[in-house]
This record gives sequence, C-alpha cells and structure tokens, in this order.
Amino acid sequence: MEKWARSLYLPNLPLKDRSYVTASPEHIALSRAAAAEGMVLLKNSTSLLPLTCGTPLALFGKATFDYVKGGGGSGDVHCPYIHNLYDALQLTGYASAYEPLAEYYRDQVQEQYSAGRLPGMTIEPELPEALLMGAREFSDTAIISISRFSGEGWDRSDADYEEPFSPYPAPDKTMPQTAAEIFPEGDFYLTKEERSMVGKVCAAFPNVIVLLNIGGVMDTRWIRDDDRIQSALLVWQGGMEGGLAAADLLFGKETPCGKLPDTFAGRLSDYPSSAGFHESPHYVEYIEDIYVGYRYFKTIPGAENAVCYPFGYGLSYTGFDISEVGFAVDADQIRADFQVTNTGAYSGKEVVQLYCAAPQGKLGKPRYILCGFCKTGSLNPGEAETVTITVPLSALASFDDTGEVCPNAFVLEQGSYEFFFGSGLHDLKKARFVYSLAEDLVLEQLAPKLCPTSLPRRLRADGTYQELTLLPEHGENNSVIPRMPGASAEGLNPAQRPYPRRLRRYPFDPGVHPLSDVAAGECSLDAFLDQLSDEDLIHLLGGQPNTGVANTFGLGNLPEYGIPNIMTADGPAGVRIEPNTGVRTTAFPCGTLLAATWNPELVAQVGAAGGAELKENNLCVWLTPAVNIHRNPYCGRNFEYYSEDPLLAGLIGAAMVRGIQSNQVSACVKHFACNNKEVNRKNSDSRLSQRALREIYLKVFEIVVKTADPWAIMTSYNVINGQRASESRELLEDILRDEWSFRGVVVTDWWNRGEQYLEILAGNDVKMGTGFPERVKEALDLGAITRGDLIRSARRVLQLILKMD
Ligand code: BGC
Repeated sequence: MEKWARSLYLPNLPLKDRSYVTASPEHIALSRAAAAEGMVLLKNSTSLLPLTCGTPLALFGKATFDYVKGGGGSGDVHCPYIHNLYDALQLTGYASAYEPLAEYYRDQVQEQYSAGRLPGMTIEPELPEALLMGAREFSDTAIISISRFSGEGWDRSDADYEEPFSPYPAPDKTMPQTAAEIFPEGDFYLTKEERSMVGKVCAAFPNVIVLLNIGGVMDTRWIRDDDRIQSALLVWQGGMEGGLAAADLLFGKETPCGKLPDTFAGRLSDYPSSAGFHESPHYVEYIEDIYVGYRYFKTIPGAENAVCYPFGYGLSYTGFDISEVGFAVDADQIRADFQVTNTGAYSGKEVVQLYCAAPQGKLGKPRYILCGFCKTGSLNPGEAETVTITVPLSALASFDDTGEVCPNAFVLEQGSYEFFFGSGLHDLKKARFVYSLAEDLVLEQLAPKLCPTSLPRRLRADGTYQELTLLPEHGENNSVIPRMPGASAEGLNPAQRPYPRRLRRYPFDPGVHPLSDVAAGECSLDAFLDQLSDEDLIHLLGGQPNTGVANTFGLGNLPEYGIPNIMTADGPAGVRIEPNTGVRTTAFPCGTLLAATWNPELVAQVGAAGGAELKENNLCVWLTPAVNIHRNPYCGRNFEYYSEDPLLAGLIGAAMVRGIQSNQVSACVKHFACNNKEVNRKNSDSRLSQRALREIYLKVFEIVVKTADPWAIMTSYNVINGQRASESRELLEDILRDEWSFRGVVVTDWWNRGEQYLEILAGNDVKMGTGFPERVKEALDLGAITRGDLIRSARRVLQLILKMD
C-alpha cells in the first residue's frame, strides 16, 4: 500500500491477508486471556476453588446479569457482544445454574435497563424466599456477584452533588444523583439491599463464593471477616469476555495470578485523600503528599490496621517458594536474581515483587517503595524459574524540594538501603543484600518547577505535617486577547476548510513540494515548512474534521500540500468507534485489571492488538494509555487508570505504548498530569508539593516517556499549582521535553479551557477537538506569538504524520 493510503482513501481493507483483525477471534481470545490473568483471588480459605466441572451452581445477585464490562464515557467501547458469568456457564458447559433464579435476575435487570438504567447502576432486587430455597435444594454452592460502574465526568461519592459548571443542559437526573439514589451510603459500600441478599445466601448455603465486578476499590471487610464466605475473586471490569475469564478461573482452567495494583482499605475515610476530595470544586489539596496508597498505609503509624487486602496481594491455587539467588551492583543499577519454584499441585505464574526500604534520613521516606517486579512464565508443579529484576538507582531516589540535602534534586541519602522481596507486601522476606552509601548522593540536579502557591501543609513519614514555603499566587497567564468565555469551546466540531476547484491532474501548485517528497527524502522538512503560509501553519495546530469511522477528529489535513488528515480514536479498553458506523471492536479489560496482571509482555500484546484494530479502521492515533495515579477511590475514572504506584503504572503504560506503536500508529499518553478528580476537571487546581509531583504524579509519565518513546501526549484539563497544564511551559518544555527528551507531539484534551496561542507558546502543539485559528492569528498580528513558534509545533505535527505508514 502507498504511504498514508489508509488516511487518504479510507479503504475497507483487512490489515493482513484476507481476514479482519477487528474483533477477530484471536483478539477476543486475547481479551479473555488478559482478563483471566488480571483477576485477583482474594480469599480461598477452605480451598473451595477451583470448582469441579459439573458442580451445580446457584448464581445470586443482579450483577450476574448486570455485568459491567468497563466504565463509562470516552473509555467505553462498542463491542459485538458481552459475556457475563451466566453466559459463560452456558457456553463452556463447565456447570449448570439454577434456572428459576437466573430467570428472576435476568428479568429484574432487563426491567431496570428498560427504565433507562445503565449496567452497574441498578438496584439489587429483594431475593424471594422460595427462590432461595429452590436454589438451595438444587445446589450447595452459591456464587454472589456484586457490580459497580463509574465514568468520565463524575466522581464516586457518598453524597448527592451536581457537576458545578456543566455546560450541558441538565438531564432529568445527573449520574451523581442517580448514584446517590442507588447507593445512599456511597458505592464504596454494599447497599442495604445487597447486604440483605448476601446475609440470606450466607445463612442458607454451606459454600459461598463472591465475585466483585468492579473498576475501583470498594469495601471488602464483609468478605474478609465472614467465615461463611470461603472464596472471593476480584474479576474487575473484565471486558467483553469477563464472564468467560471468571469461569476459566472458577473451574481451574486457569490458575489465578493477578495481584492488587491498589491497597484495599476497609473504609473510604481510611484513605488520607478522602477527607478533602469533595471539599471544593475549585481545588484539590494533596496534603498526603507522597504518602499515596501503600506508601501511606505501610508508613504512617497506625494506618496499616485499616488495610483489608494490601497492595501486591493475590492468592493462587498453587504455592510458590521465592528465594534470593543474589544481588549485584552494576554502575548505576542493581541487579537481583530470584529463583521461583512451584511447590503446589497446579501449574501457575507468580509475580516476584522487590521493595526497597530507604534510610529515613533528613527527608523522610515511605517504609517501602516498589522498585521492580517480574512475572514468571507458567510453571508446572515442581518446576522452577530464575527471574532477574533490574533496579536503576534512580528508582530509590527522593526529590528534595526543601533543600535539606540538596535543593531541587533527586538524591540518595546516606545510609543503608534494605531490600525485601516476595509475592506482595503481605509476604516479604528481607534480602541478604544491603546497598550502603557513606555520603549523600545527588543523582540529578534539577530546577524548581511547578512550585506550590497554595497548600496548607503536607504529611511527613512520622504522621506529622510540615508547612511548605509557598510561591506567591500568580493567577492565570496573561493573554493579549480576552480569553474565551468558559464553556464557549464546548463540543465544537472543527470547521470544514474550503478547498478550491483545481484540475485533477495537478493536485499541487507548480513548485510545491508535497509532504510525500519529505517522506521520500527529496525535500527537507524545513524547506517544506517554508512553503506554508502563517494561516497554513495555524491550521495544522488545531483538530480536523472526522473522516471514516472517526469521531474524535484528526490532525494535519492540508491537501494542497499532500498532508493527510490522520484520525484519532478513543480508548483505552479497546478502539472506541461509534456503534452507528456498524463497526464493533474488541473490548479489552479495564486498565486497572491490566495493571493487576503485573505482566508488561501481555499488556504489550493487548496494545499491539488494539493498535492493529485502530489501523485497520484507518485511524492513526489511539488516545491510550491513560496512566493517571489512583490517588483516591472516589475518582470516577480510576477504572481506566492503572495503579496507586508510579512504577507499576509506568511500566504497564510503557508496555501498552510499545505494543500500540509496533503497528506504526501512535499511542497518546493521557492525561498529563494530576487529573485525579473528575468534578470540574476543566478548572480544578491540583495543589501539591514538587516532591509529590516528581516522585508520584509525574514519575509515571516519566517512566513511559523514557522507556517507550510515545509519539504523542495529551495534556490534562486541570490546573497544577495555579498553572493550567496545557499552558504550562514548565510542564511541557522544561520537564517533558528538556528533562525527559520527549520528541513527540503534545495535544490538549478535548475542548479544554486554555487559550490556544498561550498553549502553543508553552509547547502544547495542537488544540483538540478544534483549534481557534482566528484567535491564534490575532495573537500573531499583535506580536504575542511568532511564525517561529508556529513552525516549531507544526514541525512536530508533521513529524508525527511522517511516522505513519
Ligand atoms: C477525555 C479524553 C478523551 C477525549 C476525546 C476527553 O473528554 O478526557 O480522555 O480521549 O475526551 O474523547
């Protein structure tokens, strides 16, 4: 195929040979395998699991049918079908379910869907006594399903709140209002209807298994503390084949090997960031600082008691022994080898997790930091594998933002760095090896960036708080043209650009070099850019109209210079194409499940499969992966994101990028940065210390950029310490490009609130969904931006297009 043929002609052609990869049996099988690999066995106290095939089952809970494949909003995916657990039993024949009960729940769920309710947003119906008794006669084994849903644009809550500045006319009921109605105590907890159903089932059945079909953390004390519940499987939101994947695990066709990417604490209030989460629509104060997730629960005195299931936790049907083979220091990295032996009776995989306990020093440190991990292949009983984990010294460093060791530098404080390894934080052995430093070491000297201007205090390792020196508040960047009123950009499509009549045989003016000349090496990019007028350059810096099946717009689109219009598409759980196009794509498991695989190679396969579906549909930029940190369970978009830990999230995100880009299409890593709350996300100010930024919230992006070379990044809507992310030169030029050597394109999130010319000046190259060329031109005429600034960003857009084949 000629270069860019898919973008230019939108052919209806399979990617390879004669069969389509989009929603192909191979991709759907990969979705199922990935789902099974990320599901986490929380409890199996009497080894009830795996079940023997043929065991009669009673399936309780409306969630058996009200299965949630993934969360809502731009992360939703339109797939050909969705298999819940009931379907899975039918399809596999592993076992039969008590039909009258199934019929009851199916009807109840259908009724609520017909009344307009969404999957996961339904009420648990009263369990009729006669059905319970009938089910008990049919079977000894009950499987209770509980599901939860959340989505883009709203957060989970335990209160009824409104999206404060929604530009859209209010529907009858907003999602938060519906959620408040169904979950009056918040969806983190079981509802009273669910509690009643669980109580009745536990009282009646000798064998009870719970399935949690959720995209974020919820209360699991009721599982841990009730001996009548013998087994629990966290099946997450497992994509279109989630039911089948769960069945594969329940019946021992696969051995569970997922591990928690987040700490499951008992109460929402146990998370230090909960208290202030809903405090204001205007700002979020990250006063817990670097003590996010296990860094908090393992460090702060007394906090650990609140943990139900810790970070890294996950059971197996088999057992493993992990032993230390040896450590070696090699220049600026530490290499650790472990032998993993399957000591049980089932084949399975294990994750070796390596944590570092750094000296408390002057800065104070988390008790443990995950510094590396490695998953084995499938080991047969008795089989052993040696795995190697490589830890760069930078993974042990702290960012000194107060100058106690060396100001604005990543430092290693003097003292002993101890290492702990095992299959999770609950099960650590101390390594024989210790890394000792006689003196403080400055690993990377940086400059102050994105300093806080308003943060009352921050948490320290001993549980006390510290006041920071703050910069004076600076307000938003000055603009030479009055800023657009708040919501006036909302939902605007890019304009169709007029294209004059011209002779078909002469698509280009005499002397014009089309972009294909640059691709062929017959014209330099500089010379190509010199041909473009200011208007042409400005045009390249805004979103372009959709073509084909796209619905999130394109980039490029200057036909008189042979610049194709390359299309974007949403993710990350699959390529999101509107259903009215007739195209259905593979729905992969949600991001959090993928992180729970702790298997970057597998995630890279998912990325490669998604990237191939993108390309086959003539799309070029996949708005995937979404790597924001799980700061608090309230965040409505946590299902799309990976983990509370930046290393796990970073390595999983990097694997996704590598997989996607192996197709010569672009990943677009989002949302850069600190988009950890949905309410008023377009204006909310994330207020945090430089240390929290550097060690947690930027670290995840840094790992992806440095190890996977993404071709595009999307800035977040929010403000960071008073600077709008898309207008922050410190974020985009100083940190992303100068420090991390990012060479790709930066695009805004869709219809944000930034002023376009200020964004270009800050290094945010393209405004999506649409640019505002007339405003950039005005700024150019006023001398507030130069042609050189336009060329810098336009060059990056063209470099991106040139990478597409
Ligand atoms: C979301 C992005 C998404 C974009 C395009 C925004 O509202 O925050 O994640 O990629 O829309 O649909």
